[in-house]
Amino acid sequence: MSNFQIAIDGPAGAGKSTIAKIAAKKLGYIYIDTGAMYRTVGLFFDRHGEWPDSHEKIKELVDKADISIDYENGEQVIFLNGENVSAQIRTQEAGASASKVSKLPEVREKMVEFQQKLAGTKNVIMDGRDIGTVVLPNAQLKIFLTADVSVRAKRRLLQLEEKGMSGDIAQIEEEIRARDTQDMTRSVSPLKQADDAILLDTSDKTIDEVVDIIVKLQKERI
Ligand code: DC
Repeated sequence: MSNFQIAIDGPAGAGKSTIAKIAAKKLGYIYIDTGAMYRTVGLFFDRHGEWPDSHEKIKELVDKADISIDYENGEQVIFLNGENVSAQIRTQEAGASASKVSKLPEVREKMVEFQQKLAGTKNVIMDGRDIGTVVLPNAQLKIFLTADVSVRAKRRLLQLEEKGMSGDIAQIEEEIRARDTQDMTRSVSPLKQADDAILLDTSDKTIDEVVDIIVKLQKERI
C-alpha cells in the first residue's frame, strides 16, 4: 500500500468531520465522510415510505440507491441517483434514519465496498464508526475521537444554530445518548475503538489542537 490512510472513528458529535476536513486540507489528503453515505441511504429509505421487512426486499431497495460523491471547493458533496442531497441529509431526522439503516448488513456491505474503492489508491482521511476496524483495517494511522456527551450536545446545537436551525439542548443530549447506544450495541460492525487506534478526547481541546496532534502523528508515521 503506497498511499497513506488515516481512519477516524468515534461517536456522534466528537468533532470527527470538522477535524478530519481541516486535517485533510493541511495534509493535501482527500476527506471522505462515510456518515453522509449512511444518511443518504436513510433518506432514500424514508422517501420509499414503508421500510422493507425482509433481507431480499432490503437488498432490492439498496440496489436501487446509486450513491456517488464529488468535491466542490474542497467540500464533499453527495448524490443520490444523480440528485445533490448534501443539505437534506444534515437534519436530526436524517441522522436517526442513518442510524437505523446502518444496522442492516446489506447496507453496510454496499457502503464498505464503495468506501474501500474510494480509499484504494489515494491518500485519504476517512471518518465514520467502523473505519479502523472494518473498512480500512490496514490504515497507517487510526484515531478514536471522543468527547463528553454534554460537550457533544453543545457542539451539535451550535452547528444547527449556525445553519439557521434551532434545537433543545436536553433533547439533543438525549438523542446523542440514544444514537451512541444504537451505534455501539448493533450486531453488525458496532462502534468500537480498534486495538491499534489512538484515543483522543476532545472535550477540553480546541479544533486546532486536535488537528495539530493528528498532523504530527501523520508526520511520525509516514
Ligand atoms: O457521523 P454521522 O452522524 O453523519 O453518522 C450518521 C449515522 O451513520 C450514525 O448513526 C452512525 C452511522 N455510521 C455508521 O454506522 N458507520 C459509518 N462508517 C458512518 C456512520
